[in-house]
Formats: sequence, structure tokens, C-alpha cells
Amino acid sequence: MNNKGIGVFDSGLGGLTVVKEIMNLMPNERIFYLGDTARTPYGTKTKETIISFSKENTAFLLKKNVKIIVVACNTASALALKEIKHAFDIDIIGVIEAGARAAVETTKNKRIGVIGTKATIASCAYIAAIKKYDSHCRVFGQAAPLLVPLVEEGWLSNKETESILRRYLESFKSNKIDTLVLGCTHYPLLKPLIKKIMPKVSIIDSAREIAKTVRAILEARDITSKQNNRRKPEFFVTDTPDTFNKVGRMFLKKDMVLAKRVVL
Ligand code: DGL
Repeated sequence: MNNKGIGVFDSGLGGLTVVKEIMNLMPNERIFYLGDTARTPYGTKTKETIISFSKENTAFLLKKNVKIIVVACNTASALALKEIKHAFDIDIIGVIEAGARAAVETTKNKRIGVIGTKATIASCAYIAAIKKYDSHCRVFGQAAPLLVPLVEEGWLSNKETESILRRYLESFKSNKIDTLVLGCTHYPLLKPLIKKIMPKVSIIDSAREIAKTVRAILEARDITSKQNNRRKPEFFVTDTPDTFNKVGRMFLKKDMVLAKRVVL
């Protein structure tokens, strides 16, 4: 069991933020990553569609002989986690729970903001998860659909991105949040800009939090890797790997490995 891999899937390449955090915490674990680039984005799709895609992604990763599956995509975690956990006999964890717990542990005034795709925000999954930990928290959601394409273009710090972000974050000022959850795979790359706009707000990076959860689960079950060398991840995509390979470098830098195209 210890030498089996960790399966990670996302709607595309954004989940590389999760891969990066897992590699930082557990460099000796072998990661199999599937990016469903042929059908991205998930953030504008219906629950039924996201469930069906997520089941196919999970089935693919199971063939790679993994010991746990991480749903890196916030949208799939929000809309399909319950259904895939029910359908497959393996530990499957999603980013929402980890981000929600960290937000509740961080907030002092119990006013938490969440940004994510339209589907994630409409699902109210973060609200439900946060209220499960502390029913007194007030949660304010804001869909931020323009941010994913901006990040994929590499527009991480220019003035156009800043002005769009300012608009999305505007309502959080009057709602007086003290904690903001980055509820989408791509947003950790915008952290410096978000900090500039909201310097006093604590930022919760769901990618970092899920990596801590994965480590805690593997340690509790005593199934961490016994290898003592840094493992290279393996990447699979459902459409041409060109963009993934190019943009992936922005997320992973020296750890980037070329992806292979697969049919699910
Ligand atoms: N990976 C998605 C998420 O975290 C963002 C991109 C998409 O809409 O598919 O919600």
C-alpha cells in the first residue's frame, strides 16, 4: 500500500496548485494527475455533467493503482464529491472541507468570504462546510469567473487583472470579512495581488490545506511512501498536451513533466 500513488484530478491544469503543495509536503509520494482538458471548464456546467465527468476521472485514476484520490477541482468537490465517494471503494477527499476547516480556525470575527467559479458559489458547498464547523460564522460568496482565463494567460499582476479583482472583492469590504477562502484551483497564483487589495484579510489557500489533510490521512493509516527519493509526478490530459505543458510551467516550474494524452 505504501508505495501506491496519490491520484489527483482536476478539470484542467489548475489542480497543479494542489500537486505543488503535495510535492512540497510529501516529495517522496508518487502522484498521478489527470487534467480533463478536453471538457474544461467545469465551473459553468451542471451538477449532472460534473458528476458524470468526475466518475470517469476517478475510474481512470483507479487504474493507476492509487491509495487515495484527491479531487483538486473545487467545482467537482462542491458538486460531485458525495456521489463519487458513494460509487467507489477508495478514500476520496475534496478541497472544500479542508479550506472550510482552516477558515473557521482562522477567523476571529466569524465573517468569511469565499471566491470561486459560478458553479461552486451557486452550490453553497463552502457555506455548508463552514457552518458544519461553526454555525455562528457568516459566509459571503462571490463568483469570479474571469479569474481562471486571466491566470491561464499568465496575467497575474497587471492592472487589468487588479481592477477586475477589485470589483470581485468590493462587497467583502462592506461585509467586513477577516478571512477569505480561495475556492478555485487557479486563485493561489493571484495571492500577491489579493494581499495587496485586502492586506488585513487572512487568505486561506485550499490547495495548501488539502495537502495537509492528505498527509494526515496517510500518516494515520501508516501508508506513507517508504521511498527516500523525490518522485516525479505523471500527468495525463484528455486533449492535446501542448497548452498544459506550456502553462503548467507557470504552476510547477522545475517540477513540470510533460503530459500524455489519454482517452477516458
Ligand atoms: N478547477 C476549477 C475549480 O477549481 C476551475 C476551472 C473550471 O471551471 O473548470 O473550480
